[in-house]
Amino acid sequence: EGLTIGIDVGGTKVAAGVVDGAGTIITSLRRPTPGHSAAEVADTIASVVAELSADHAVRAVGIGAAGWVDSDRSRVLFAPNLAWRDEPLRDEVGGRIGLPVVVENDANAMAWAEYRFGAGRGRRDLVCLTVGTGIGSGIVLGGELYRGASGIGAEMGHMRVVPDGYPCGCGNRGCWEQYASGRALVRLAKNIATVDPSAAVPMLEHCGGGVDALTGPDVTEAARKGDPAAIRCFTEIGHWLGEGMAMLVAALDPNRFVIGGGVSDAGELLLGPARQSLLAAMPGRDYRSEPDIVIAELGSQAGLVGAADLARF
Ligand code: BGC
Ligand code: NA
Ligand code: ZN
Repeated sequence: EGLTIGIDVGGTKVAAGVVDGAGTIITSLRRPTPGHSAAEVADTIASVVAELSADHAVRAVGIGAAGWVDSDRSRVLFAPNLAWRDEPLRDEVGGRIGLPVVVENDANAMAWAEYRFGAGRGRRDLVCLTVGTGIGSGIVLGGELYRGASGIGAEMGHMRVVPDGYPCGCGNRGCWEQYASGRALVRLAKNIATVDPSAAVPMLEHCGGGVDALTGPDVTEAARKGDPAAIRCFTEIGHWLGEGMAMLVAALDPNRFVIGGGVSDAGELLLGPARQSLLAAMPGRDYRSEPDIVIAELGSQAGLVGAADLARF
């Protein structure tokens, strides 16, 4: 089967690795994302490929990108949380490295990795959600990755859950990713710090700075130690996560949800409330079985493993 390279390009880091046909990472590396123009990103990807392929014979490269990828798996049409606007990423990279390249949405790549090698093994109808800055989603239906008519299906983070709600990077208001993401978690924590400063002390202690410096991991750490304010933030975003999942159940009837992304490090603090509100909001709940909700197995490497595997097809 041979080896391929998988590369996960996010807003802050580029994670890359050489992967075999069983999804095993032979070697990997990480670089900061240099800038957001296709040319800068392509330069970094090309140098990473050169480094990784020096010691390994690879036959193709798969790139998972945090944006909307066309059905040719070639261009990033749009990225709500990055500066990509109609970027010909495949050709930019291909021209530099002389290997076949495919581009895939980051969450699709992750879902594929979890389906093939992780928490979704054997589940042919699977929804994978990556809860980070935003919400990414990948859908496997009947054992195949669902891409939609123009490649940009499975953008569940932009389902409108609150008419006229918070503005989103996609140009709409009220998107799911504004209510059940790392960004939402931090917004809630900062709000507590403003209206009830004493309640926010444990979160701020962990952060070691002022309100402006609060991050998602600070809230997670405080919640893990039992801080009620931090736990409340997770209860709230978990609630919204479950609300959106209920809509996905109505549309897709998956038998498993796999949850990844940085916010999922909180485990049951997030999944507990999500499960509860999914159960409460799921259509026909007394007459169907509830899909199970599990944490992703491949962690922060899922995107690169999936991208590498998709480069084989
Ligand atoms: C983008 C998706 C991406 C997700 C996670 C969303 O805002 O629309 O394309 O998969 O963020 O990176
Ligand atoms: Na997707
Ligand atoms: Zn949106």
